[in-house]
Amino acid sequence: MSDFSPEWLELREAADVRSRNRNVADAVAARFALRAELSVVDFGAGTGANLRATSALLPERQTWTLVDHETALLDVAKAKLIRWADRHEEDGERLVLDKGGRRISVLFKVADLARDTEVLLDDKPQLVTASAFFDLTSEDYIRKLAKAVTGMGAAFYATLTYNGLQKWTPHRPADNQMTAAFQRHQMRDKGFGPAAGPLAGSHLVDQFRINGHVVTEGESPWRLERGDRMLIDELIRGHAVAVTEIGGVDEKAIVSWLNVTRTAAFVGHTDVFAVPS
Ligand SMILES: C[S@@+](CC[C@H](N)C(=O)[O-])C[C@H]1O[C@@H](n2cnc3c(N)ncnc32)[C@H](O)[C@@H]1O
Repeated sequence: MSDFSPEWLELREAADVRSRNRNVADAVAARFALRAELSVVDFGAGTGANLRATSALLPERQTWTLVDHETALLDVAKAKLIRWADRHEEDGERLVLDKGGRRISVLFKVADLARDTEVLLDDKPQLVTASAFFDLTSEDYIRKLAKAVTGMGAAFYATLTYNGLQKWTPHRPADNQMTAAFQRHQMRDKGFGPAAGPLAGSHLVDQFRINGHVVTEGESPWRLERGDRMLIDELIRGHAVAVTEIGGVDEKAIVSWLNVTRTAAFVGHTDVFAVPS
C-alpha cells in the first residue's frame, strides 16, 4: 500500500507548481528550445503532476514514460491527464494528448525503481525527470543513477526534493524536537536503502557534477499561508504520524504540538537540472 494517496498528491499539486524554481525551469526551457521533440522518463510519477508542470518547458512533440510502483496511482494519472488535455486519443498502450499546442505521447509503466531503474534506462530517454521523489532514495541509488544518466548523455531534472528546512508560524519550542524526529523518519529506508532524505538534493548536485554534467540548482520551498489551510493541516498530521512511528518524542508533547493552530509554514525543497557540458 502506498504512503502517497491520490488525495495527498492532489492537495500538494498547486503548491508544488507555484514553488518550482523559476531560474531552474528557465534553464530547462532554454536547453530544449531548439528541439522539435524529446523523450522523457518520469520516476515516481504518482498521478502525473510532473508531466502537467514540466511539459510546457519542453518541445512541441514529447514522448513520456510515467513510472511508478503503484498501479492505482498511474490509473489516476491517466484519468487526470485526460481531463487536463485539450484533446486525447488512445493508441494501443499509449495515451496521446494535445495540450497548448504540444503533442504528448504517454506510456504508463508499473515498476519498482529500487530494482528496475537500469532496465528503464535501456530505452535511452533524453531527459530523466522526477518530482518529490529523490528524498525517498538513498545516496547509493543517487550515485548509480547519476553515473548511468551521465553515461547515456541524457539531461536530468529533479524538482521539489525535500531539503530539511522547516519553519512553522507561530513558532513553538517543541518545533525543533519535532523537526529533528521527522528528519530521522525521512532517513529511514523507503525501499532504496537508508534514505538520503534532506541530503538528497546535495547528493544529486555532487554526483552529477562529479560525473561531468553542468548543474543548475535552486530553492523551491513551499511558502504556505492562510489559503493553504488544508495542506498545512495535512502536513502537521503527517508529521505527527511520522514522529509517533519513529519514537523518541513523548506522546503528550506530540498531541500538544498537534493542537497548535498554524497560520503559515515553510518547507524547503531543491530543484536540480543537469546537462552534458
Ligand atoms: C511524493 S510522491 C510524488 C509523486 C509525483 N511525482 C508528484 O510530484 O506528485 C512519490 C512517488 O514515488 C513513488 N515511489 C516510491 N517508491 C517507489 C519505487 N520503489 N518505485 C517506483 N515508484 C516509487 C510513489 O508511489 C509516489 O507516487
